[in-house]
Amino acid sequence: MATVANTFEEQPSAAQVVDSMERMSGGAHAGCRRSSARGACFTGMFTPTGDAAALTTAGHLQKQRVPVTVRFSNSDGNPQVPDSAPVTRGMAVRFHLPDGRSTDLLGITVPVFVASTPAEFVGLTEALRPDPGSGGTWGTGHPDMGRVQAFVGAHPHLAGPIMQQPPIPESYGRTAFWAIHAFLWVDADGRKQAVRYRWEPAAGRSELTAEEAAGRAPDYLTVELHERLARGRVTFMLYVQLAEDDDPTHDPTVAWPEERKELTAGWLELTGPVDDQGHWEGERFDPTRVTGGIELSDDPVLAFRSFAYAESFHRRSEKA
Ligand code: HEM
Repeated sequence: MATVANTFEEQPSAAQVVDSMERMSGGAHAGCRRSSARGACFTGMFTPTGDAAALTTAGHLQKQRVPVTVRFSNSDGNPQVPDSAPVTRGMAVRFHLPDGRSTDLLGITVPVFVASTPAEFVGLTEALRPDPGSGGTWGTGHPDMGRVQAFVGAHPHLAGPIMQQPPIPESYGRTAFWAIHAFLWVDADGRKQAVRYRWEPAAGRSELTAEEAAGRAPDYLTVELHERLARGRVTFMLYVQLAEDDDPTHDPTVAWPEERKELTAGWLELTGPVDDQGHWEGERFDPTRVTGGIELSDDPVLAFRSFAYAESFHRRSEKA
């Protein structure tokens, strides 16, 4: 009988989590991010509408346009996994603020996360690990479904989030990205408002069937975005959901009701690839790199991510 591999009753260390992520990706891939290994970076501008300015003092959400750098990625930690794989995609945005600092916003193509705590995440990652040396969960190897079912059976509240099917997008420019966690906006008087962000493509969402995707090149999402940008700009709207008093801010597996008020904070226009892919590939995006006017919520996964990303950055910088 399959065993549930969640032995991390207490908070795991960042090294334990990254070790587990490496196992899920069929081993460490030298010099690569331990998640979202394959990606490409682009440049553009973000224009705030000003509608958020009454709720946060953040520099990029006032009236002034700011440059952005964006990395799109395929979430697997194995850089050989093709873009047709049924995995989430990532959009990591760095806003270059008027005061010379920067702040990051990371999103993926599903609205809720698969774990409420770092311990649950590592338990799931262990359950998903493929046979050793088999190339990663979505490479040539497959997880033991009995082990995955045992994990879900022991964590029934995660069944819905784990069963989410991420879309296989036609384009990075035709899929929505959710930042998932709650953040707290702070206004000029210190009042706080919990929010959640979503990027929505102005061209509308469009996905491929698995059969259509199978016929595409392994890097079709990057190639397609270059072609799309050669024809014109690619725009995303930034929508922000405003929590009401009882909406949970600590659990990334629970969405807030759809009828919550939403404002349009601004729009992002991509203009082309960055000149220095090598530099940006080596950069570290971090969801906890917020700026004045924005605070982290009480979500333990959000806080933990910073340590895991630092561990991954350290390993890939060592070319390990
Ligand atoms: C316990 C939860 C999580 C862990 C341990 C984790 C871990 C990681 C690691 C190790 C990396 C590579 C970092 C690097 O080398 O720079 C990464 C990248 C990424 N993660 Fe997560 N992650 C978690 C949750 C999430 C969530 C909830 C999101 C949704 C917004 C997300 C979105 C991303 C994106 C977009 C990237 C690529 C960033 C880039 O392009 O540099 N992750 N994650």
